[in-house]
Amino acid sequence: MVDASALAAGKREAGYRAADMVADGMVVGLGTGSTVFYAMERLAARIREGLRITGIPTSYQAAIRARACGIPLATLNDYPVIDLAIDGADQVDPGFALIKGRGAAQTQEKCVAFAARSLVIVADLSKLTRQLDAVVPIEVLASAYVPLIRHLEAIGGVPVLREGIKKDGPVITDNGNMVIDCGFGPISDPAAFDIRLSSIPGVVTCGLFTTFSEKTTVIVGDSGGCQVLSRDGQFPL
Ligand code: A5P
Repeated sequence: MVDASALAAGKREAGYRAADMVADGMVVGLGTGSTVFYAMERLAARIREGLRITGIPTSYQAAIRARACGIPLATLNDYPVIDLAIDGADQVDPGFALIKGRGAAQTQEKCVAFAARSLVIVADLSKLTRQLDAVVPIEVLASAYVPLIRHLEAIGGVPVLREGIKKDGPVITDNGNMVIDCGFGPISDPAAFDIRLSSIPGVVTCGLFTTFSEKTTVIVGDSGGCQVLSRDGQFPL
């Protein structure tokens, strides 16, 4: 049983450390989820001390939180090159392949990661795994969710259309699409599977992130502090 306050402390440690990597004048990608929230909290404090940055949010949630933190915002179309993107993850493997999309934000998160010179993933220890095996959130066109569910079943997946909480019926993403959460069990070749899922017609964005690992740093936090991981270094599992 994971201690909730230790988990929150780990997220805070990781988020604050990532925010301290931001330099004056940077364009900063702002990911979605509870860990990035701590990075924004720390950025807010640094902005009050004089730091000047421009944030590129990856979701309505990120934009709302950034505004509350006093982080000036712009869009990816205004700033097609991002200096540093800070984002969370649902699972991280030793090669820095990721599963993302628990918050249904993976499409804009992937666009921001692609545009970023460097990607800093902030996570608590529970996100690390030797092999990706969590459900893969897949954003799909609403007009094609039935054939997509059938196809995902045919390739061995266990797809479930994501339902809203405090909203009857399916989750509709910030981009107006639906989400299928699909279990596949352990994924032996994440990069090949990313390509396979991403190339299915009707798939907007699958939650596998496998093409950014060379520019990725992972900061993993626990109640005792945080570690900055590199792909060639030690993986604490
Ligand atoms: C959003 O869709 C996800 O990709 C998040 O980045 C991810 O779920 C991380 O969230 P937490 O920091 O709350 O775990």
